[in-house]
Amino acid sequence: MLRKVFIGTALLATIILIISLIIQESRRVGSNQGYEPDQPIAYSHKVHAGDNKIPCLYCHFGAEQGRHAGIPPANVCMNCHSKIKKDSPEIVKLREAIDKNQPIDWIKVHRLPDFAYFNHSQHVTANVPCQECHGPVETMTRMRQDQPLTMGWCISCHRERGIMPPEEHQDLNRDKTKAIGGMDCAKCHY
Ligand code: HEC
Ligand code: HEC
Ligand code: HEC
Ligand code: HEC
Ligand code: HEC
Repeated sequence: MLRKVFIGTALLATIILIISLIIQESRRVGSNQGYEPDQPIAYSHKVHAGDNKIPCLYCHFGAEQGRHAGIPPANVCMNCHSKIKKDSPEIVKLREAIDKNQPIDWIKVHRLPDFAYFNHSQHVTANVPCQECHGPVETMTRMRQDQPLTMGWCISCHRERGIMPPEEHQDLNRDKTKAIGGMDCAKCHY
C-alpha cells in the first residue's frame, strides 16, 4: 500500500517536472524580445511622440486608470489627420477604415501569457516611466519589444525598489507601513 502511494507520488512529481520543463522551453523559444512586426499602417512613434512631442497618454489614455494602456481608435488620429497630410496614402487607409466602420488590425507586439496579470495603472500612477518597460519608444519608427517581459524581469525591478512586504524591506528606504506584495505569487497569478 505504502509502496503504491510512493510510486504514485514519484510518478506525479516526474510528470509535473516534465510539464514545467516543456513550458519553460516553449517560453524560451517564444520569448518575444526584439519582436518588430510590420503594421497595417506605417505609423511612427518617432514622428508623433518624438519629433512632435505628443504625450504618450494622449493616445494611450487607458494606462493611468486601468489594466490596459490600449491602442487609440482611428477617430483619435483624425483629430489631426482630418487636416494634416490628409491625402497621404497611409492616411487614406485610416479614413477608409473609418468610413467602412472597420477597426485597424494593428499587430500586437507585447503580450504576456494568460496566466500572468499585469496592470498599467499600478505602475503609471507610481511614476514608473513608460520607457523603463518599453524602451526609447520616441525614437522608434516601427514599434519593437525592447524588454524581455519575463517573470525574472518583473521580480528584479520589484526587488531593486523594495516592492515587498515590510519584513523583507531590510535597509531599503521604502514606506514601511505600506502593505505591498511585489513578490507574492497571487498578485501576478490568479
Ligand atoms: C498619436 C498616438 C500615439 C502616441 C502619442 C503614442 N502612441 Fe504608442 N501606439 C500608437 C498606435 C497607433 C500603436 C499601434 C501601432 C504600433 O504598434 O506601432 C501604438 C503602439 C504602442 C505600443 C505597443 C503595443 C503593443 O502592440 O504591444 C507601445 C508599448 C506604445 N505604443 C507605447 C507608447 C509610448 C511609451 C508613447 C510615448 C513615448 C506612445 N506610445 C505614444 C499610438 C500612439
Ligand atoms: C496631435 C496630432 C496628431 C495625431 C493625434 C496623430 N498624428 Fe499622425 N502625424 C501628425 C504630424 C504632425 C505628422 C507629420 C506630418 C508631416 O510630416 O508633415 C504625422 C504623420 C503621420 C503619418 C505619416 C504620413 C506621411 O505620409 O508622411 C502617418 C501614417 C500618421 N501620422 C498616422 C497617424 C495615426 C495612425 C494616428 C492615430 C493613431 C495619428 N497619426 C495621430 C500629427 C498627429
Ligand atoms: C512596469 C512596466 C510597464 C510600464 C511602466 C508601462 N508598461 Fe505598457 N506594457 C507592459 C507589459 C508587461 C505589457 C503587456 C501586457 C499584457 O500582455 O497583459 C504592456 C503593454 C502595453 C501596450 C499594449 C496594449 C495593452 O494595453 O496591453 C501598450 C499600448 C502600452 N503597454 C503602453 C504603455 C504606455 C504608454 C506606458 C506609459 C504611460 C506604459 N505602457 C507603461 C509593461 C509596462
Ligand atoms: C511580479 C509578478 C510576478 C510574481 C510576484 C510571480 N510571477 Fe510567476 N510569472 C510572472 C510573469 C509575467 C510570467 C510570464 C513570463 C514568464 O514566463 O517568464 C510568469 C511565469 C510563471 C510560470 C511559468 C513558467 C516559466 O518559468 O515561464 C510559473 C510556473 C510561475 N510564474 C510561478 C510563480 C510562483 C510559484 C510565484 C511565487 C513564488 C510567482 N510565479 C510569482 C510574474 C510573476
Ligand atoms: C521598472 C520597474 C518595474 C517593473 C519592470 C515591473 N514592476 Fe510591478 N511595480 C513596480 C513599482 C514601483 C510598483 C509599486 C507601485 C506602488 O508603490 O504602488 C509595482 C507594483 C506592482 C504590483 C502591485 C503589488 C501590490 O501589492 O500592490 C503588481 C501586481 C505588479 N507590480 C506586477 C508586475 C508584473 C506582472 C510585472 C512584469 C510583467 C511588473 N510588475 C514589472 C515596478 C515595476
